[in-house]
Amino acid sequence: MGGKGKGPLFETAVGRGRRWYTLYAISVLIGLCLIWLYRATNIPEVGEKGRWAWMGMLAAEICFGFYWFITQSLRWHPVYHQTFKNRLFQRHGNDLPPVDIFVCTADPTIEPPIMVMNTVLSVMAYDYPEEKINVYVSDDGASKFTFYALLEAADFAKHWIPFCKRFNVEPRSPSAYFSSPDLNGLSYASELNCIKEMYNMMEDRIKNAIEFDHVPSNTIKQHKGFSEWNSQTAPGNHQSILQILIDGRDQSATDVEGNMLPTLVYLSREKRPQYLHNFKAGALNALIRVSSEISNSPVILNVDCDMYSNSSESVRNAMCFFLDEERGHQIGYVQFPQNFNNLDKDNIYGDYISVIDEVELPGLGDCMYLGTGCFHRRESLCGRKYSKDCRMLTYMWSQGKMRDAGENTRIIEERAKGLANCTYDQNTGWGKDIGIKYGCIVEDVVTGWSIQMNGWKSIYFNPQRKGFLGISPTTLAQLLVQHKRWSEGLFQTFLSKYCPFLYGYGKIELRLQMAYATYMLWAPMSLPTLYYAIVPSLCLLKGIPLFPRVSSTWFLVFAYVIISTHIYSLGEALCCGESLGSWWNMQRMRLMRRICSYFFGLIDTMMQTLGLGRSNFDISAKVADHEALERLEKGFMEFGSSPMFSILAAIAMLNLFSLVASVIMVVVRQGFIVREQMVLQFLLCGVLVLLNLPIYEGMFLRKDNGKLPAYLAFESSVVAALVCLFSLY
Ligand SMILES: *[C@@H]1O[C@H](CO)[C@@H](O)[C@H](O)[C@H]1NC(C)=O
Repeated sequence: MGGKGKGPLFETAVGRGRRWYTLYAISVLIGLCLIWLYRATNIPEVGEKGRWAWMGMLAAEICFGFYWFITQSLRWHPVYHQTFKNRLFQRHGNDLPPVDIFVCTADPTIEPPIMVMNTVLSVMAYDYPEEKINVYVSDDGASKFTFYALLEAADFAKHWIPFCKRFNVEPRSPSAYFSSPDLNGLSYASELNCIKEMYNMMEDRIKNAIEFDHVPSNTIKQHKGFSEWNSQTAPGNHQSILQILIDGRDQSATDVEGNMLPTLVYLSREKRPQYLHNFKAGALNALIRVSSEISNSPVILNVDCDMYSNSSESVRNAMCFFLDEERGHQIGYVQFPQNFNNLDKDNIYGDYISVIDEVELPGLGDCMYLGTGCFHRRESLCGRKYSKDCRMLTYMWSQGKMRDAGENTRIIEERAKGLANCTYDQNTGWGKDIGIKYGCIVEDVVTGWSIQMNGWKSIYFNPQRKGFLGISPTTLAQLLVQHKRWSEGLFQTFLSKYCPFLYGYGKIELRLQMAYATYMLWAPMSLPTLYYAIVPSLCLLKGIPLFPRVSSTWFLVFAYVIISTHIYSLGEALCCGESLGSWWNMQRMRLMRRICSYFFGLIDTMMQTLGLGRSNFDISAKVADHEALERLEKGFMEFGSSPMFSILAAIAMLNLFSLVASVIMVVVRQGFIVREQMVLQFLLCGVLVLLNLPIYEGMFLRKDNGKLPAYLAFESSVVAALVCLFSLY
């Protein structure tokens, strides 16, 4: 090894411009303190109008200030990693550790088998020695169509993998590749047409099978796996189904060019109504056990079934971290960012993704485990604590248990199957100290957190060409529900024994504890935001001033804090490649998420803590209909339906009424606003109305199917009018 390709396999750089940032942050902090001082010293006397509203403002501003303070942990010390794949090659050639890739799917209607198959093919075709790749699909829907699609994939892979490698095709998900725009005039057009034809025929066969609820009978005859399904098989009640579709160690399993193939395994773990199945965490733990019996690779990658690999280099990139001679043995996992391929360019749903990806996650130094697109060292996932004598990965796998090549596939299947039974992890450490944690909605974050607590380092790696592309929600309702679930799960974690400040106290840097807390406190932050969205507008209507007058010095403090923080966030978004419009959409969505998702997340958490409710897991649908996509492309929000919209619409109407009323008052009773104390309140109300424009549009102007439900316009107007009247008298 010595001397070949000198230098580390990866390098870490610290972001620049920190000094300027520190100055800016200190100035904002001073501004915040002054605002608190102003609030505290100007509370209206007992009996004066607006005393309570004022105190509420003080409380809200303390919350905002505190939250701003902890978010600084995400911007304090950004680090960026770079890998050297050529050094990896010089040192190890193709003598690399094997990797187990887990793909989880839960419901064949929400996650169509064709999508799952494409994801599977994209990870089978990594630029990595074929015999070192082992793909495991966990199908919690126990769907024979998913199984059938994988059988087809196993066949198609024999053509697809050599095609990808010969022509260096990217991305390696067939459907994504065939739909990429620049496929004309390639030198291998005839091969391309041939394989495309083959793919289309396969897709048709699968579509037909699903449509007519009938798998071709000669396929059923050819593969004994189908005998596992009978009329009693239901997603929640069936025995373990485990089939090794391609056994990579079998010398006769080769592609059309005679190269070896990756191993492909289908697993649907046993489910019985009387046993908890622990959702995705349970599925992943079953995969960890089953894979340990079949390939037992030292590195595990897990991806959601809707996230295909967009870069064939990801495994080699990850290995650069794990195999680094100096630091590799400390690394517990390497997380890639989650990216989406269906975002419109104006980012109408204001996903913060790019800012989170480019600024916040690198700023963490370490990284959260985000549940998909993450390479784990098997040991760290299995609950082992890091210690000085944790070995290099290369050493481990050459010493590790390697399955006897001659062993019969069916015998291994039988042995591994038992590990997927639902009684297997009852009363064991699984879900507590071993594997993915049970009993939390955000099991991934908690699992990553405890891996860090076990002393492992984590890496956030964000290469230029994104490693994984998924599908983000296509309607506002889906998006809000998704965020509600996250905020709820994260806040529950905050209240549990995993609270960063308690669990991490003394074991992990305060900065990282704070960083986790910024996400875990999403839910309670809904309260000050709601307050700010409602009370100042109502007070505007009543003529109660809540902000300093324009001519006072205090006004400058407010102006500085508001303007500087917004300019900073705008600059940050522009640096991440967002447009002005997209930043504006981000502001709107932040408001909506806080007053809907996080608020309901908070309520549900409270209900549960008091023992009144149960959390529900709703998977967000991954496919959208054609018309909806067209409307999205034109820049119209697709609302969908959700009870959460009531509060959104009511607040929007309330602000509209306040604004209109105060404008009328200015005109009728000149000088009302000119009492200059109202300027900030008026502006705040105006900005809220501007942010809510799509809601008014969705209620009153749009006629298409993506608009808000009709009753909302009436309901929200009545509610808002009542609140306004009530507050006036
Ligand atoms: C995905 O891969 C394609 C093909 O290599 C590339 O052109 C594209 O930029 C990638 N997408 C992202 C978001 O990186």
